[in-house]
Amino acid sequence: MTNRNATEEPIRFAYWVPNVSGGLVISTIPQRTSWDADYNRKLVRIAEEAGFDYALTQIRFTAGYGAEFQHESVAFSHALLAATTKLKVIAALLPGPWNPTIAAKQIATISELTENRIAINLVSGWFSGEFRAIGEPWLDHDERYRRSEEFITALRGIWTQENYTFRGDFYRYTNYNLKPKPAVTPEIFQGGSSRAARDMAARVSDWYFTNGNTPAGVRAQVDDLQAKAAANGHTVKVGVNAFVIARDTEQEARAVLQEIIDHANADAVKAFGHEAKNAGKASPEGEGNWAKSTFEDLVQYNDGFKTNLIGTPDQIAERILALKDAGTDLALLAFLHFQEEVAYFGEHIIPRVRALEAARAERAEAA
Ligand SMILES: Cc1cc2nc3c(=O)[nH]c(=O)nc-3n(C[C@H](O)[C@H](O)[C@H](O)COP(=O)(O)O)c2cc1C
Repeated sequence: MTNRNATEEPIRFAYWVPNVSGGLVISTIPQRTSWDADYNRKLVRIAEEAGFDYALTQIRFTAGYGAEFQHESVAFSHALLAATTKLKVIAALLPGPWNPTIAAKQIATISELTENRIAINLVSGWFSGEFRAIGEPWLDHDERYRRSEEFITALRGIWTQENYTFRGDFYRYTNYNLKPKPAVTPEIFQGGSSRAARDMAARVSDWYFTNGNTPAGVRAQVDDLQAKAAANGHTVKVGVNAFVIARDTEQEARAVLQEIIDHANADAVKAFGHEAKNAGKASPEGEGNWAKSTFEDLVQYNDGFKTNLIGTPDQIAERILALKDAGTDLALLAFLHFQEEVAYFGEHIIPRVRALEAARAERAEAA
């Protein structure tokens, strides 16, 4: 299956907003990335100019992988939208602290204020210590997804239906009429790779966001996801995480990766790995994010090294096409020095990807 996106749409690009401190690697390697507002406003303009379609902000209440300081995701997303005109910003929401009514109202207002450029990433939680710290009960893995699915169903219902009534186990609404409703229903992304995550995406999400992986690993997930979605009559797109290290030679790029790993903050990596694997253990089939991650993988906390966008611009462009062949619609990217490297990606890699896509389309037409 799945040459679904091999020739159709151009692959989309998103970047991780560094709205938490410490960058996107758990390493003491010097980074010019900053988590502050001015840095991020400049970065989002660079990304928009470079041809990125989306920026994804993170939700975090306590340090989890380093990330000692954190700006709140929805508020920060709004600030980035106010600094741009084209790109969409994906704000993360966590069931528990958020409920669908608050989220529906808050996101509808931001949508109205920003030409419908806000989207959301519904995360289900992996960090029990954080839930404890903020006074939220910690549900079992699959229960978290049952709640997330109700959240998405209710959120979309409130956004799109008059006098919305819903009777779930976690949320209940009676004749609720959101006014005004968003003019364009915001896209709903969802983070998580377990079977429960795929099952939920195959029923209700617009986008399935997964951790870094090889094209074969992505394809296995996509095949399962798309078979289930087809059976449900549902359409879902796929985004894959990757950490990009683009240098003139592959050797230089690999040396940077080695330096990041050599400077890993070992205690923080192990503490993160412990929490993440523990959270996934309750996932009965053992396929959740991080289930198979090594210490080195965890240094990029969403397994971004595994995707191997590490090398020369030509190598990276080819590997992005391989991800696309595996059924990926969007590459979600992180970098060591965000401002410089996002600009470089826009200048050297996106045009190569577009050229490869155009060449394929020509070949397909000629065939
Ligand atoms: C692209 C992506 C972004 C995510 N963003 C966040 C986030 O900002 N905050 C958070 O607590 N969890 C985040 N998660 C974690 C997921 O919501 C989920 O809890 C985690 O992937 C474990 O799920 P699994 O065991 O079902 O795979 C993200 C996951 C992915 C793949």
